[in-house]
Amino acid sequence: MSQTEDRSAFDWEARFQNDDTPWERPGLHPAAEAWLARGVLARGQSVVIPGCGRCAEVAAFARAGLKVTAADLSDTAIAWQKAKIRDEQLSCEYFEGDILRSDDQRWCPDVPVDRVYDQTFLCAIHPRLREQYAYALANLWLKSGGQLLALFMQKDERGGPPFGCSLDAMRDLFSDTDWIWPDPNEFQAWPHPNLNGKPELAAVLTRR
Ligand SMILES: C[S@@+](CC[C@H](N)C(=O)[O-])C[C@H]1O[C@@H](n2cnc3c(N)ncnc32)[C@H](O)[C@@H]1O
Repeated sequence: MSQTEDRSAFDWEARFQNDDTPWERPGLHPAAEAWLARGVLARGQSVVIPGCGRCAEVAAFARAGLKVTAADLSDTAIAWQKAKIRDEQLSCEYFEGDILRSDDQRWCPDVPVDRVYDQTFLCAIHPRLREQYAYALANLWLKSGGQLLALFMQKDERGGPPFGCSLDAMRDLFSDTDWIWPDPNEFQAWPHPNLNGKPELAAVLTRR
């Protein structure tokens, strides 16, 4: 099986083509709104949005003056983001393809970025790919002091996507060696408007 086939076992492109996208929110994630309001996401910063799909945050962050890179496997999702950015006369960079490749076609920003915004990407990828993602975040994508803005999907049932991202599993994946975790009192749970109201735990992790 090729790397791309491995990543695409779930047919995301078909889901977008059929408008079968229950993970989509009607507007900005309230955690993203709060991060913009508090300056956790601020003008001039660079931000990568892996598995952006058709989320509203790509245009919203570009509108707020961030340098956005939107990445997705799905042609339909990237075409949707391009049209939105063009209509609003904003600017954005795109990566269309498998952002988790680890071979010589691996994606990497030209310069490590300030922020990575993960909205239902970590819970969408198969758990066997998590180590690869965590490695890329810590060693290739984020600058030292850069931040992962995470929304950890809480789900007890097995299987997925979405695959549950329990705090214990996240603590193992994003270890204290590489990451500074916020005080647990700072985690905020946001129920998803669909997906049976599963809560997403918002946490800002800082790359050491
Ligand atoms: C659950 S959707 C979330 C989309 C968007 N973040 C949102 O919240 O609406 C997961 C997205 O990740 C993308 N994706 C999954 N695996 C990927 C990979 N290896 N590289 C790039 N994109 C990927 C899918 O195409 C899909 O758009």
